[in-house]
This record gives sequence, C-alpha cells and structure tokens, in this order.
Amino acid sequence: MTKKKFTVTSALPYANGPLHIGHIAGAYLPADIFVRYQKLKGNDVVFICGSDEHGAAITLRAKKDGVNPKEIVDKYHKINKQAFKDFGINFSIYHRTSSDLHHETAKDFFLELNSNNGFTKKVNKQFFDEENNQFLADRYIIGTCPKCGHDHAYGDQCEKCGTALSPDELINPKSTLSGKRPIKKETTHWYLPMQDHENWLKDWIVKGILDGENHHDPKNWKNQVLGQCKSWIDGGLKERAMTRDLDWGVEVPVNGENGKVLYVWMDAPIGYISATKQWAADNNKNWEDYWKNNSSELIHFIGKDNIVFHCIIFPILLKLNKNFNLPTNVPANEFLNLEGEKLSTSRNWAIWLHEYLEEFKGQEDALRYTLCATAPENKDTDFTWADFQARNNNELVAIFGNFINRVVVLTNKYWDGIVPEKSNLEKYDKEVIDSLSKYPDLIGEKIEKYKFKEALQELMKLARLGNKYLADTEPWKLKKINEKRTETIINISLQIAASLSILSEPFLPFTSKKLKGILNVSDLTWQSASTENLNAGSKINKSTLLFSKIEDEIIANQILKLKS
Ligand code: MF3
Ligand code: ZN
Repeated sequence: MTKKKFTVTSALPYANGPLHIGHIAGAYLPADIFVRYQKLKGNDVVFICGSDEHGAAITLRAKKDGVNPKEIVDKYHKINKQAFKDFGINFSIYHRTSSDLHHETAKDFFLELNSNNGFTKKVNKQFFDEENNQFLADRYIIGTCPKCGHDHAYGDQCEKCGTALSPDELINPKSTLSGKRPIKKETTHWYLPMQDHENWLKDWIVKGILDGENHHDPKNWKNQVLGQCKSWIDGGLKERAMTRDLDWGVEVPVNGENGKVLYVWMDAPIGYISATKQWAADNNKNWEDYWKNNSSELIHFIGKDNIVFHCIIFPILLKLNKNFNLPTNVPANEFLNLEGEKLSTSRNWAIWLHEYLEEFKGQEDALRYTLCATAPENKDTDFTWADFQARNNNELVAIFGNFINRVVVLTNKYWDGIVPEKSNLEKYDKEVIDSLSKYPDLIGEKIEKYKFKEALQELMKLARLGNKYLADTEPWKLKKINEKRTETIINISLQIAASLSILSEPFLPFTSKKLKGILNVSDLTWQSASTENLNAGSKINKSTLLFSKIEDEIIANQILKLKS
C-alpha cells in the first residue's frame, strides 16, 4: 500500500473565549477521529489548528472587558490549547496568528497576489462612526439581513443563514460601538473580484474538475455544503474587500499605507499555512510537501457558518497564489443545540469544555462518545444531559465495558492472566472470527466518507458481538464441564477485545490506551484488527475500569448549573 499524505485543518477558533461542546462537535472531534484513523492506516498526516487572534471578534471583546486585545488572546490561547490537549484532540501543532511567522507569511501572501493582479485597489465610501472615529466593517456594524431578516447580521456575514454580506447590504445599519447610524467616508482598500472566478469555481466545486483534470468526486461532498456553494455561485459573486481600517491585525505590507490591516478572513486561513511551516521547521519536514504537492489531500473541517470562506474565498486566494492545493473536501457540520436551545455564549447556555474536563476527570471519552453519536453531521442536532447519561451507562458501561470486564476477569481468574489456546473451532466460533475480520474495513469506509456516527455504530456492533458471544456460550458455566471449549471461547473473546482496543482509538483514545495496557498489546495498525493479536501463552494484566456509571444526581446538578 502506498502511503497517502493528508493536510487536515480544523477551523482556528477565535481566542476570545473558551470552547464549548458545539465547537467540539463541529470542527474538532470529527477531524481528530479522521486523523487518528489515517495515522493508524499508516498514512502521513499533518493536523493543523491554532488560535485566530485577529478581527473584530477579538477587539470587541477586549473593548468590552476594558483590556488590551493582547491580554485576551494570550489568555484564551492558553486555555483553549490546554483544553484541546486534555480532551485528546491530537493536533500536530496549535499555532497562533499573532506569531511573527504568521504575520510574515500572510504579508508575503498578500504581496504575491497583489503582484499577480489578484486585487483591485479602489477608493470607496464606507461606513464610519464619528463618535469613535472608526471605520465600521464586519462585526463593527450590525443590521437586518436582507436574505433572512435576522436583525443581528454582521457587516460581513449573517450567522443565522450563513449569507456572506457587505455592510452596504445591511438593512438599517448601526454601529456596534455607538449604536448610532453611521455616516459614509472615503477610504482606500484592496478588493478581491470574486465574480472573475465564478467559472472555474463552479467546475471545481460542482463537477470536481480543476484545470481540466479530475480533482475530487463531488459525491463525497456533503449535500448541504454543495448546496450552499451552488446557491452562492448561482446568485452571482461580488467583489469583497480584503483589507480593513483597523490597528489590530496583519499590517497591509505596502509603503505609505498606515492604519490598514488584512481582513481577518484573509489572514486566518493563511494561518493554516504558517502553522504548517512552523510544524515543518520543528519536525524536519518540508511544508510545501503538504500544500503544493498534488498527491497530498487538503481537508478542512469546519462548522457551517464557515463554508463560504473555505469553499469560495480561500480557494480563490490559494489558486491566485499558484501551485497551492485546493481542498479535496470541506466536511462542514451543522450546529449542535443544547437541551433544545441554541448554544449561546452571552446567555451562558453552554457546556464549556474546560469545565467538563475538571468536573468529569477520567471521563473524556464519555463526552467524545456522545458528541460523536449525536454529531450534527447532516442536520442540527440536540445534546441533552439525559442522553449523555444514557449513552454512558447503557452503551459504554453496559456493553463495551461489560464485555471487556468479563473476558479480562475470567482470564485472570481461571488462567492467571495467561491467554489460553484455542482448538476445535465450532461453526459459531468461525462465524464470529469471520465477522470480526470485516470490522476494520466496515468502520474505515465510514470514516473515509466522513460518516463518523455510522462508524461509531459499527464499532459498538463489534462490542455487542463480543457481549453476545459470551452470553450465548456462557464460559463461566462451561469451565468445569468442558475446559478445552472454555479456553477456545476465551481466546476468541480476547481477540475481539484486542481488536476493540485498536478500532476504538480514533473515537475513544483514552479507553483504547487503557485497554491496550490491560491486554499488553502495543501500538498496532488498523488492519491488524482484522486478525488475531494475542498469542496463546502471552500474559494480560488485571482489569481496570474502562467506564464508570454516571449517577442521576450528577446529571441533575449539571442541569441545575445550566439553568442557573
Ligand atoms: N475564527 C473563525 C470562527 O471561529 C474560524 C476561522 S477558520 C480560518 O468562526 F480558516 F480562518 F482559520
Ligand atoms: Zn440571514
């Protein structure tokens, strides 16, 4: 098998606040599952993320708190980096767009496009807040969305319907700073004429054809992603300013242009590239292998509010810069709700990752499991504490945990932890072994199609198979009557357990590690899970608890906390 190369990115979260479960279910957990799987397959993967530290999301937050933007980004960069790590999201690097390397990379990128005539430089009238002496764009200006009527649409996007906007399109625009109706004032900016790119964008997204060659199979793209892209392109693309009159961001690298920075949605995705450069420098690799090599796949994991930026704007920038790969897929997720309502930072209607990690120490996988099982893959979905409890208690504890516990305890009790021989296979044994051999492909195919929910269901089917095999054969009763038969059953059950230790790794990495420790297996490849991994005569360890039951009281307290 030839090794494939993947550059996998997860949306760079704004370093203006902590992460909640909606973020995780959207862009981080699915990416982590995908990456862990590809690595187990032996592929070469770089997994990129980091803090998005520019833009109005940051400066407005700083203003609200009465502090410098730097204080905000330093604080949340640290908190978010740690929370991802503790939750087992295994980035190759968690970089920052405030780094020097990023600023240099973004400036070079801008200059390259500028010299390729990628932009039109124009003097234009833009909204201006006289009270605050500031031009208003993006989140500095709000108004009613012309598409869906949402009354809190931003100057660059309506987060309700996802439409990309310009301030002039807002109905009844108001300054976020003063709440007043702004005046118009002249200013110079660099615009990206997106309308010039409609033709190739359409071929590329809708037909999967780029520069006359097959690039990707559109059938592998999610319907809602294709649908959004098509409707934008069909609606006609417009020019969009790539610079802003602000003092927080990457300076426009043109002499005499003071007080101008790059638009955050130009600068942030370039953050994927600068992060790869840093990672390559730290690990003795060549970053261009991951961005400019046809045989390497670029995959962006994002939430649905980021589709236009990753499927239209950033690809235009990449294409203008020549030789850069375009994404082969952008598996955007929809939104996760909480107890029937939209997650909301301002109303504190959220489960904060760093708080969960403190309150549920050692139960990271219970949340990973629930978020994967209820992920908003094709439509908005709902997280409830009751469902979380049920999935933990009835699935992880009662099925996966119970099976492992039974087989490990029996092996220790009857054979001192030595894996017994198998002999004289019966029809049922052969069926179980045959069925086991198919799981790596069954689960892998789903992961490769970004169907993580179904992949997880397959994994649980394997745990169920193990449980059922033990329940049907009842080795604990058989031991005194037929020792040989009992040994065979335990041997086969242990092989299932070993396969589970491998195949669960992408979803439940903490459990996988514990289970490998119990079974004394080292890091095995994905495909090895289709065959036997425990030799008769080898020794396993004592059982330790993989999952623990979550009591009603804990859940009641969480619901109380949420509603307080
Ligand atoms: N910070 C943005 C958000 O939270 C995502 C940026 S993704 C990147 O919506 F591509 F720009 F990096
Ligand atoms: Zn809207």
